Amino acid sequence: MSVPELTVTVAKVLSLIELALGEIEVSGRLVEASNATLFGSIRVGKELLGNVIYKPTSGERPLWDFPHGTLAQREVAAFQLSEALGWDVVPPTLLRDGPYGIGMVQSWIDIDEEIDIVEAGQGDHADIIRMVLFDALINNTDRKFGHLLPLNGRIFGCDHGVTFHQDDKLRTVLWHFRGEPIPVELLNDLNRLEDALPVLERLIHPEEIAALLTRRESLRSRGTFPQPSDDWPAVPWPPF
Ligand SMILES: Nc1ncnc2c1ncn2[C@@H]1O[C@H](COP(=O)(O)OP(=O)(O)O)[C@@H](O)[C@H]1O
Ligand SMILES: [Mg+2]
Repeated sequence: MSVPELTVTVAKVLSLIELALGEIEVSGRLVEASNATLFGSIRVGKELLGNVIYKPTSGERPLWDFPHGTLAQREVAAFQLSEALGWDVVPPTLLRDGPYGIGMVQSWIDIDEEIDIVEAGQGDHADIIRMVLFDALINNTDRKFGHLLPLNGRIFGCDHGVTFHQDDKLRTVLWHFRGEPIPVELLNDLNRLEDALPVLERLIHPEEIAALLTRRESLRSRGTFPQPSDDWPAVPWPPF
């Protein structure tokens, strides 16, 4: 498998600075979302910079397997890791105060509606190849087709709140590379994980950092994309 270079740059995605400096104005709640997942905009004075998703920590529902009130940090950790690896598969995301308190704020991706995301998700787009490895690395428990966001020839991922658990829980709709060799350039990219550690150490638990490093080691030593496990449900439900 060869991985094409990422050459397309995307307009309309808010930068971290824009996310940090603007004022968040909430205009709606994403009804299907299970936590308080709010849609809004970022403004500086009267200027509308763009749209955002805002998930205040106060709106997180308790989960049996993740420590309460930690999902927003995990979303930011996923962004920081994607940046350190040079993969750019997560829209700019940061932790900041907002109208309902501290939470994660992420640039809204105005997706290309004409893209069939089930077809694209099961293909070999450069972003999908990276996303499959990224999910294995972050131990994503919720990669649904609806968490793939196509824009301008790129495919971003969202909803990385239930990630970085220390126990293996990979749950995804993207199993089509299972057992195949991981492209060597992506294995090399994994060396850059260390660049993210200073910030990850502020966002997730030390045991979760240790488990992240262990998952990287096993991906390197096996050199193949993971296989679904029989020990837990390997596909999220519903898959969209
Ligand atoms: N940054 C984003 N840009 C565009 N759409 C998004 C973004 N984040 C989430 N969405 C859309 O909103 C839906 C709900 O958000 P999600 O992060 O999945 O919330 P929840 O944690 O409540 O499931 C997603 O399935 C996706 O369709
Ligand atoms: Mg979701």
